[in-house]
Amino acid sequence: MVIHDVIIVGGGLSGLRAAIAAHDGGLDVGVVSQVYPVRSHSGAAQGGINAALGNAEGGEDDNPERHAYDTVKGSDFLADQDAVEVMTGMAPGIIFEMEHWGVPFSRTKSDKIAQRPFGGGAFPRTCFAADKTGRFLLHTMFEQMLKRHIKVYPEWLMMSLVVNDGVCCGLVGYHIPTGEFESFQGKAIVLGTGGYGQVYARSTNTLINSGSGMAHAYHAGAPLKDMEFVQFHPTSLIGSNILVTEGARGEGGYLINKLGERFMKKYAPKVVELAPRDMVSRAIQTEINEGRGFDDSYVLLDLRHLGKEKILERLPEIREHSIHFVGVDPIVAPIPIQPGQHYSMGGIDTDFDGQTPVPGLFAAGECACVSVHGANRLGGNSLLETIVFGKRSGEKTVQYVKGREWKPVPEGVFQYALDIVRARVAALFQGTGQQEPAAIRAEMKETMFFKVGIFRERKLMDEALKRIAELQERYRHLRAIKGGKIFNLDLCRAYELRYMLDLAEAIAAGAIARQESRGSHSRLDFNKRDDHNWGKHTLAYPTPEGPRLSYRPVTFTKWQPEERKY
Ligand code: FUM
Repeated sequence: MVIHDVIIVGGGLSGLRAAIAAHDGGLDVGVVSQVYPVRSHSGAAQGGINAALGNAEGGEDDNPERHAYDTVKGSDFLADQDAVEVMTGMAPGIIFEMEHWGVPFSRTKSDKIAQRPFGGGAFPRTCFAADKTGRFLLHTMFEQMLKRHIKVYPEWLMMSLVVNDGVCCGLVGYHIPTGEFESFQGKAIVLGTGGYGQVYARSTNTLINSGSGMAHAYHAGAPLKDMEFVQFHPTSLIGSNILVTEGARGEGGYLINKLGERFMKKYAPKVVELAPRDMVSRAIQTEINEGRGFDDSYVLLDLRHLGKEKILERLPEIREHSIHFVGVDPIVAPIPIQPGQHYSMGGIDTDFDGQTPVPGLFAAGECACVSVHGANRLGGNSLLETIVFGKRSGEKTVQYVKGREWKPVPEGVFQYALDIVRARVAALFQGTGQQEPAAIRAEMKETMFFKVGIFRERKLMDEALKRIAELQERYRHLRAIKGGKIFNLDLCRAYELRYMLDLAEAIAAGAIARQESRGSHSRLDFNKRDDHNWGKHTLAYPTPEGPRLSYRPVTFTKWQPEERKY
């Protein structure tokens, strides 16, 4: 058994920042990560991280309160305003810390940290390092972790959480390169396991984003909050759905339909392409649905007028991706794009110190729902969230661990958890059914994209929920997984699939129940926001019959709901 004071699960920005904070608070920390940390999905973030620094020309009057208001308005008034104020208040300090640690932020002419406009922001507020911001932040954070000699367990997949007497005390891991199982014991466990993008087709997320960390917390007793709110990024490359950063529009890119029209002028006359993501994705999808897209599936993102120099300086990776994946050089031709699933506003219910309702279990970053994004996240607030709430979670574990008397966990608790995981894995190798896990996964993804997607209605969502129940039943009759235990990614994917189906079910159930349109949850059959009945958070708890939903009020501090116009 591996024992540390704190076990962090996830080697992305939230996990590493939590590890650093817990270590600096005097705790012994271990980081368990499905991949080598620098390959975590945080590294795929491109466009930037928000903080009211006031560095950009015209942005001098920016401040954390204005950042908070924009975030609350962007959230369609579902974010908890106290949590938002914590995040935006800490943002400038987070940027300066990351800069001092070595992040090579792009600069203004007067050598300040450069900031570009992103959708829904009143000022250019997004700090960036060209279009590789996540990668630079992640690598810098990783260096800080190495400097502290924090122990990392790379290529260990979390198979379950371990709870003793209602207190989370560890997890069972599967070592992908050797096929070993091991239990990890900690006084506090912090999940920084990311989002569930792979539950959807057309996702900008990497293959490791199964969301199974969220599902393990759900089964360990922590409810999932606001799962119906799924973000679709307006611009992903057709075919691969690789992200084309919002920074491309922030730098001045246009969206063009088949008629050559800059159609966002119709949908958001004041801010045009820089409306929040939910609005831009709906606008693109509407153009496609009404026959003004290309091949009924995409529109164009035109960067040509920005000029070669700016594209090479500010958007080099977008250019490379476009050339490699669609054969288009944005210096000379527009990029074919379509909306893609990108982010989960919902997640494990936490407070703004990362505490879940299960003692000993903490969560931060995309797997958590604090909630700072409500019904729609603003671009650039995700990288910010990972670092702010990763840090706060790590700090909170210090208080939690040092503030208690600790009794040993009975040995049998971990043995029992290991036995269950071993039995589940054995059952996958011994499957006698005919069902193909990859086919179930593919059907789940298509079902979620087309029936619980950008536009929603009861009939399609009911069909989705029914289909998910059928897929859950089919999962009980899988064919045997082939191969051995070593580097068997089919085994990992099949194991995770059960949890992904739980998430799909929670998303669909929450979406069917919420009879209004708010942020990313856009219902054709209830097309208005309904603050009186639905200005509240959804909480989903697992039962054998599917998720049980309950509701919790939103926290308001300064801003009452108003119509969201841009
Ligand atoms: O468009 C982007 O660069 C993504 C940023 C984000 O999701 O915050």
